[in-house]
Amino acid sequence: MDKSNSVSALIDQQPGRDEFLEDVIAGLNATPKQLPSKYLYDQRGSQLFDEICRLDEYYPTRCEDWIIKRYSHEMAEQIGPGVMLVEYGSGSSTKTEALLHALDRPAAYVPVDISRDHLGLTAKQLREKFPKIEVLPVCADFTQPFDLPQPRQDPTHTAVFFPGSTIGNFEVPEKLVMLQQIADLCGRGGGLLIGIDLQKDVEVLEAAYNDARGVTAEFNLNMLRHINRELASDFQLDEFDHRAVYDSEEHRIEISLVSSSQQKVSVSDQTFHIEKNEKILTEYSHKYTIGGFADIAAEVGLMLRRSWTDEQQRFAVLHFALLD
Ligand code: TRP
Repeated sequence: MDKSNSVSALIDQQPGRDEFLEDVIAGLNATPKQLPSKYLYDQRGSQLFDEICRLDEYYPTRCEDWIIKRYSHEMAEQIGPGVMLVEYGSGSSTKTEALLHALDRPAAYVPVDISRDHLGLTAKQLREKFPKIEVLPVCADFTQPFDLPQPRQDPTHTAVFFPGSTIGNFEVPEKLVMLQQIADLCGRGGGLLIGIDLQKDVEVLEAAYNDARGVTAEFNLNMLRHINRELASDFQLDEFDHRAVYDSEEHRIEISLVSSSQQKVSVSDQTFHIEKNEKILTEYSHKYTIGGFADIAAEVGLMLRRSWTDEQQRFAVLHFALLD
């Protein structure tokens, strides 16, 4: 990975090639095969994801944007003045603007994302839009602990903003580890503002992950392109099909790449056999009830303070505070 062309100053804790290779090999040796979803987000992946967020079928972004715009002042009041706001998986930070406008004298905004160049560009644009707020981007894999920067102005407390229902992309053990890390990062007096996608009709859910224009399919397949480029592997993109189905017992969309032929893939010095119709899991997207999610968060001491939803109750934004 070329680290020389950072667009603007940022703290770089991006996972290196060794870790990438290890993750991919471990995933291809697992049954069923799986690839960690964080590798969906290279530069092109981040752009495709932005495009997904604008699709008619992909309601979560629209709903969450609406909720944040409509209730940003209530959210800011919950969060309180002088905060250091740390955003997990900030991408293009589009949802954050309404919040940044509403917050009372925030000490700093720390966008955290794995996609370095995208993060650099976003930070630059935000500095122009919010000249009074110190923007301190951190390029990191937020599923692992990372170091926070030291803002010039001393924050009164730290709050994590975790939109997009990204928490739903983790399975239970990892989800609890992440929530625990968030609780540790915030400490006493800290808070968590998090977006979660709610359970609803399967037709609406499946359409959101199978758009008519095929942008989601392209996004999913781009993971293989990213792996080929970084690890010199030889996945044949046209030998895989995008699949996204809802599992109503587990309350989650299962997103995978299904092999359309029997094939071999080499990664580094290893060869993997893939059967016709065999799937490689790329992502789960869990759907919640507000109460169900509050129960999970309570396990790490995060207490639900407020929740906001859109009029059709498709999506919710929840504010948690740390129990003393
Ligand atoms: N956090 C998003 C979600 O669960 C991620 C996502 C949207 C996604 N569409 C996708 C991940 C398609 C993989 C494939 O809704």
